[in-house]
Amino acid sequence: MGFPIYRPRRLRATENLRSMIRETELSVKDLIYPLFVVPGIGVKNEIESLPGNYHWSLDRLPEVLQEISELGIPAVILFGIPSYKNAVGSSAWDAEEPVQQACRLIKNTYPELVVVTDACLCEYTEHGHCGVLENGCTVNNDETLPLLAKIAVSHAQAGADVIAPSNMMDGYVKVMREALDEAGFSNVSLMAYSAKYASAYYGPFRAAADSTPSAGDRKGYQMDPGNSDEALREVALDIEEGADIVMVKPALAFMDIISRVKETFNRPLCVYNVSGEYAMVKAAAAKGWIDEQRIVMETMLGFKRAGAKMIITYHALDVAKWLLGK
Ligand code: PBG
Ligand code: ZN
Repeated sequence: MGFPIYRPRRLRATENLRSMIRETELSVKDLIYPLFVVPGIGVKNEIESLPGNYHWSLDRLPEVLQEISELGIPAVILFGIPSYKNAVGSSAWDAEEPVQQACRLIKNTYPELVVVTDACLCEYTEHGHCGVLENGCTVNNDETLPLLAKIAVSHAQAGADVIAPSNMMDGYVKVMREALDEAGFSNVSLMAYSAKYASAYYGPFRAAADSTPSAGDRKGYQMDPGNSDEALREVALDIEEGADIVMVKPALAFMDIISRVKETFNRPLCVYNVSGEYAMVKAAAAKGWIDEQRIVMETMLGFKRAGAKMIITYHALDVAKWLLGK
């Protein structure tokens, strides 16, 4: 018997052989597409920092909903640009604002599409922080919690299927779960942004959502990128408080966290392929330096291999088309 005895290359010889032993698959059903809804009429404006993604007014939203539905993408996550901002972010729980209106529209026209809503205050406060401020720049945790409860109930009343709190306040899942149950929405799920890091990768999103803090940063509430064990404690807390789905965010620089969370908890796990990750790929592709399709598909497969099931990504429409050969 010759050397080498075992030849892994034997099973790499053809595409069919490779597909037979491939351990990880990517499906259209793994995708969640972010949508930015704005006030006004007739708006479909490309977002400069997120090329290929748009600000949509309610009347034009059906254009993209139709495409999402035809591609078989199961879910969207809604972000809103409100018509007014104040110190406490009360437009976040206003039933006539874009997110609530979009929830109702989607549930009336595409009832099978899963509507996830991002629940935070940063788009809705004048200061751009994810909660109410005390002495100018510190976010007061316990005063923010009841506001998050109001957002949850307001989104549920508008028809949201899954509410995704991204604010990183302590105790947020418990408070939102209790508020939903008391208001009769015990079947509305919570997807907690459990391990959400204070990251430079959110830059293009903040430009798109007009949610950059006017002073200070989010390091007092979002996680320190140096920490891994702490991510497991955050996830454990959220599960204990009633999270149905947990999330790791951002994705690319935090693949080890995805893997540890999957191994430790084995819960429905979502990863957020954030705006800065998207922008880097689009910029390099525009320069002709990378093969966009191959780079994106390899990245998506990487998220699945690391342990994520759901992927929130601005590439979702393209990924679905590529998977379907369209
Ligand atoms: C709101 C929120 C942010 C993102 C999702 N929800 C921004 C932030 O925390 O500053 C980032 C998404 C992205 O970068 O794609 N808290
Ligand atoms: Zn926020």
